[in-house]
Amino acid sequence: MLTLGIESSCDDTAAAVLQDSDTLLSSVISSQDNIHTRFGGVVPELASRRHLESINPVVQEALGRAGVSIRDIDLIAVTQGPGLIGSLLVGFSYAKAVSYVSKVPFIGVDHMAGHLLSVFLEDEKPQFPFVALIVSGGTSSLFLCISYSNFTLLGRTRDDAAGEAFDKVGKLIGLEYPGGPHVSRQAQAGNRKAISLPRAWLEEASLDFSFSGLKTAVLNHYNASKAKNEDLQIPDLCASFQEAVVEVLVEKTMLAIKKTSLATVVMGGGVSANLRLREMMKNRCDENGIRLFAPRPSFCTDNGAMIALAGYFQFQRTTPVQYNQDVYSRSQLG
Ligand code: KG4
Repeated sequence: MLTLGIESSCDDTAAAVLQDSDTLLSSVISSQDNIHTRFGGVVPELASRRHLESINPVVQEALGRAGVSIRDIDLIAVTQGPGLIGSLLVGFSYAKAVSYVSKVPFIGVDHMAGHLLSVFLEDEKPQFPFVALIVSGGTSSLFLCISYSNFTLLGRTRDDAAGEAFDKVGKLIGLEYPGGPHVSRQAQAGNRKAISLPRAWLEEASLDFSFSGLKTAVLNHYNASKAKNEDLQIPDLCASFQEAVVEVLVEKTMLAIKKTSLATVVMGGGVSANLRLREMMKNRCDENGIRLFAPRPSFCTDNGAMIALAGYFQFQRTTPVQYNQDVYSRSQLG
């Protein structure tokens, strides 16, 4: 079975061709970072306009690299939500039109399900059930995953997502958008203990996250240093900030493992590409006899392969979407 996956929920136009559930024939991603970087964040209108220009070339390239044509495709899986409505509409309408003309069924996939299942694109696959930490620019959530379709939300961010906090801190200190990878690179040369920053643990036993207080603490530290004409060490600030985010993500995941009595952790989403997060999570999992699975960095950030995979599994249990269905901005997974 050949599935064409299409993703356009935010600022990357992506498409991939997946054979069955395990053979990725192609994956093409067209990034818009160069458009949004001068604004320090994604400008929705510019994002949807660029998606319009990129969607057909990206899909055609994915088909070409896979050595197939649209007539060979058995299913079109496309991100239906959550995300920016204008961006989503481009991919969703494109998939509808191609499906209608070429008579290939199409299915709308929740972007979060793509991140949750992206680890199954790797050779080493986890066994259900497991706890999943999904951290990206739009979400920081913990899920209990029972099967390919049964996900229960255990906790979520009450304000900023982890990636959003990385991006805002990056913008504050003048790094390029998206800030996450740049902050992380700066952090490699910094001292994690140089600046004392808060960790929002929230109520005891809560699996929710909160990163806006931390972001404000970084802002206050930055402004105070400037006002005093102090020599602010950007690497130290980045390392201290990153440590505060990562520590909370890791410890909340360990709490979720304790509460569910499970022994497997899965990570997904753009922030799970962060090396310090991977290192600390690995150490804590090893200490506790927990197995850790994380996709390679290119499957952590937005891609069409994870949408194809989630669509493939969804197609086994549901009928394709109707042409009158629409996109949605908030995740349906809780
Ligand atoms: O999953 P993704 O590509 O898009 C969303 O669905 O949001 O995640 C993008 C987010 C951005 O906030 C980006 O700064 C962050 O993931 N990110 C990172 C790293 N790589 C990407 N954050 C921290 N460290 C990284 N290495």
